[in-house]
Amino acid sequence: MKKTIEEHAARFDDHATAYDESQDSDEYRACASLVVEHASPEPDDTVLDLGTGTGAIALALAPDAERVVGRDISAGMMDEAQAKAEEVGIDNLALAEGSFREPAVDDPVDIVVSNFAMHHLSDDEKREAIETIAGLAPHKFVLGDVMLFGEADPDAPFYSPEVDDPATVGTLADALTDAGFSLTAVERVHDQVGVLVAERAAVGDGVDATAADGASGAFGLDGADAEE
Ligand SMILES: C[S@@+](CC[C@H](N)C(=O)[O-])C[C@H]1O[C@@H](n2cnc3c(N)ncnc32)[C@H](O)[C@@H]1O
Repeated sequence: MKKTIEEHAARFDDHATAYDESQDSDEYRACASLVVEHASPEPDDTVLDLGTGTGAIALALAPDAERVVGRDISAGMMDEAQAKAEEVGIDNLALAEGSFREPAVDDPVDIVVSNFAMHHLSDDEKREAIETIAGLAPHKFVLGDVMLFGEADPDAPFYSPEVDDPATVGTLADALTDAGFSLTAVERVHDQVGVLVAERAAVGDGVDATAADGASGAFGLDGADAEE
C-alpha cells in the first residue's frame, strides 16, 4: 500500500462529493457493468461490496439481492452512497466502515464484489485480502479493477503510480486459486482494466479441475506475470 489506510480514507473523503462525476471513462463504466452482470445475485443472496465507495455496484445490485452489505474506509464516500440509496428508496443496503483485510462482517455472505478499489493495496495485501474474502465463504467473488494484462504503460491513464498499485492479472489469478477459488471468467476491458470471476464449488459439487489447477495457464495469462 503506497499510502496508509488513513491517508486513502482522507483522500476519498475529500473527493467524495465530486467522485461520481469524475468516473466518466468508458472503461470504468464497462468494468462496473461487467461486475454487476457477473455478480447476478438471486433474490435470497447477501452480497458484500468491498470498497463500495459511493455505491455504484451496491446500488445496482440491491434490487436483485436480499441484502447488500457495503464496506469502505471512507465515511464520506459511504455518506454519498447512503444519500443515493434514500433518494431511490433502497432499504436493503447496510453500510459501515470496514476494509479489505478487516471487513467487519459477521453474517454469512453469498457473493463478494469489488470494483476499482483493490488496486490501492500492495500485492501482498491483496493476497491477504483475497484470503480474508475466501474465509467469508462466498460461492462467488467478482473483482473488477485496474489490473495489468501486459507491461505497465508509463503513460498509464488508469492509475496514478504515487497512490495506486495494480497487480498483474496472473498475480491475482494465482492468489485467487491459492485461496481455493476457481477462476471461471476473465474479462479484459482494457490493457489495464479487467474483471475476474472466481467461484468456489459447494461441498459435494464437482470442481472444474482445469480452472482450479493453474488458472493463469488455463486462461492464457502466463504472459501476465503469473507468479511461479
Ligand atoms: C475508486 S473508488 C471505487 C468505488 C466504487 N467501488 C466504484 O466502483 O465506484 C475506491 C474506493 O475504495 C476504498 N478503499 C481504498 N482502500 C480500501 C481498503 N483498504 N479497504 C476498503 N476500501 C478501500 C476508497 O475509500 C474508495 O471509496
